[in-house]
Amino acid sequence: MKALIKLYPYLKPYRIQIFWVVILGAAMSFLQGLVAPLTTILFNDVFNTAPGGETGQMKAINDYLLNFLGHDKATLVVAIPLTFVGLYFLSGIFRYYHFYIVRVIGEKLSIDLRKDLQAKYLDLNISYHQKFASGGMMNKILNDVQYIQQGIYLYADFLREPILTALLFLNLLLLDPKLTLYTIVSAPIFYIAIKQTSRGLRKYGLLSQVTLDTLTSTLKETFDGVKIIQSFGLEKKVKDKFAAESEEFLRARKKIVVHEEIAGPLSEFLGAVLFSALCIYVGKGIINGTSSPGVVVGFLMALGLMQKPIKKLQEAVIRVQQIVVCTERIFEVLDSDDKVIQASNPKPFPKNFQSISFKDLQFSYGNETTLKHVNFNVKRGEIVAIVGESGSGKSTVMNLLERFFDPSKGDIYLDNIPIKEMSLADLRANIALVTQDVFLFDDTIAANIQAGNLNKDKSHIKEAAKMANADSFITRLEGSYDYRVGERGQKLSGGEKQRISIARALFRDAPILILDEATSALDSVSEIEVQKGIEQLMKGRTCFVIAHRLSTIRHAHRILVFHKGTIVETGSHEELLEKRGAYFKFYQIQTDGQPT
Ligand SMILES: Nc1ncnc2c1ncn2[C@@H]1O[C@H](COP(=O)(O)OP(=O)(O)OP(=O)(O)O)[C@@H](O)[C@H]1O
Ligand SMILES: [Mg+2]
Repeated sequence: MKALIKLYPYLKPYRIQIFWVVILGAAMSFLQGLVAPLTTILFNDVFNTAPGGETGQMKAINDYLLNFLGHDKATLVVAIPLTFVGLYFLSGIFRYYHFYIVRVIGEKLSIDLRKDLQAKYLDLNISYHQKFASGGMMNKILNDVQYIQQGIYLYADFLREPILTALLFLNLLLLDPKLTLYTIVSAPIFYIAIKQTSRGLRKYGLLSQVTLDTLTSTLKETFDGVKIIQSFGLEKKVKDKFAAESEEFLRARKKIVVHEEIAGPLSEFLGAVLFSALCIYVGKGIINGTSSPGVVVGFLMALGLMQKPIKKLQEAVIRVQQIVVCTERIFEVLDSDDKVIQASNPKPFPKNFQSISFKDLQFSYGNETTLKHVNFNVKRGEIVAIVGESGSGKSTVMNLLERFFDPSKGDIYLDNIPIKEMSLADLRANIALVTQDVFLFDDTIAANIQAGNLNKDKSHIKEAAKMANADSFITRLEGSYDYRVGERGQKLSGGEKQRISIARALFRDAPILILDEATSALDSVSEIEVQKGIEQLMKGRTCFVIAHRLSTIRHAHRILVFHKGTIVETGSHEELLEKRGAYFKFYQIQTDGQPT
């Protein structure tokens, strides 16, 4: 129940529609409920089988209906059946609007949830992206939300069916209180049957969704990695993995099907037992003269009509378990607050900053400390190279500058303002990031260079591409700047992609630039092409260059050498070589003993 209350804020905007859903549902149920007492009248007062047998109250209702319809049998024999038609016609109209509104609410709710889930994913701290892996997240956004959407119909059942059940029950009570009480005695048996079957559903519901997460992840990996899979001949391995996970999923689904489907026949059987017991009982009543066929037919009619709403309620009770599971899974994402904390009164980015200071930074992704006592100062316009062995924390420092994570100790300052106190969007707008694995959107080259920076004049796109040394290859492409690059830019070469990403950074024209191994994936011809672009890009900016390549490093004003999360040496290329310390060793490995 707690999980379901969580959906309340999402349903609140539709409260007026929900009000109408209840009203229409009640009206339609009421009209359908009238069929049973009318049947009693038809049998007792029109067919005149054997009048009597009703209790005082029922008699009063019958008399009221008779006064309304008139006492003339010739009229009644036509009027009552025609009333049935009228009742079903009206209730049909109500039913249409009732379900129409319910389903539209369901559709809208699922869109709201999906939009919020996607937005939340984009807002969450990067560490959360590892927790909610993209495949699992896709499953949540598509399938879990789908379940919740269908769940809205179940909620409607919960609102509507008890009304019809109560009306019919009242009818039973008025017709024959004693008989009704006998009927109620059987209720706990139904209850236990439902309870038993719904018990396992939550467990298997969760299992099936978790398995579906893995299944979606594998599927996503298949699409993303199809080239590597084919080139390494991993098709069988990936197919087998998917097949095994599908088996696992099937096992969970089978368990769910068993639990869901056993309830139906079980309660139908119990219903049949109840029905025959009642037939015996009322049959004896008719023989003894304590009951009339009209009452019995009305009673059985009401009881028969009750079957449908009870069955629906029972289904709702069972199926709601799956929705509880999905709601919990979705709100695990929506309620997580591991966002990068935003300042409540953010300070503007100091456009004319003179220095960036990293003061005593400490950081860890998990238990192990990744960065400790990181201290350095960068002047505006300075080019700083960051070197060090793989895993020494170079990219991590830059992650902290972009505030993908916050340090556990220490801070980064622009002049005297901690970056924490600035608006996140403002900070990031002033940093351009160029990384080794270029991400391009499945869009045109122009749109990729523009990268959502819409308030800047489009005419700069070509200019940026020219500076990035990309214009010449772009103009050779069919459609030139309108050429679509394909998913992740796969229709371009590595060097071309990189030059587009440099053009993107140039177009952004941010004062701070981070180059994370931007050239290490390229062959030397491509590298020269890309290097030209990078040199343009670095001009007049404060640059952090993470590189293994000496050609890039030697451009730097200063070199920081990282080792196991701390800075062990700083200085210029010449100074550091003279020291014959960590950098010297690094240099030797890079040049492989060859003179440069
Ligand atoms: N998102 C993450 N979650 C957990 N651990 C991480 C994460 N990113 C990096 N690490 C770990 O933190 C350490 C520093 O990683 P970092 O990416 O900063 O290294 P690097 O110096 O950039 O290395 P490389 O030269 O290989 O890019 C490594 O031990 C790495 O395994
Ligand atoms: Mg790195």
